[in-house]
Amino acid sequence: AKITFITKEQESIVVEGTAGSVMELAVQNNVKGIDGDCGGVCSCATCHVQVDPATVDKLGVASEIEQDMLELDDDANEYSRLCCQLQVTEEIDGLVLNVVK
Ligand code: FES
Repeated sequence: AKITFITKEQESIVVEGTAGSVMELAVQNNVKGIDGDCGGVCSCATCHVQVDPATVDKLGVASEIEQDMLELDDDANEYSRLCCQLQVTEEIDGLVLNVVK
């Protein structure tokens, strides 16, 4: 799947992958602002992204643990996700994610 990250500086970075989490893919491609400090166990929120509303249908709903973590983040909105909780599959091809930090 191809995924586009838009950084805080409005730079778009297109990455491509077939497996693993979206966070891992971002870290491998040095997407600025996605740190993945907790290694993907949903406890740091350094992988916070906001999904482009036009592509939000590609994703399922966030788990309770992900939602709880996002609630602690003041920058969270209805499009917020923790991208370590998003699996790279063909279903999310074309996803556009805004980096929050
Ligand atoms: Fe830590 Fe996603 S990498 S919450």
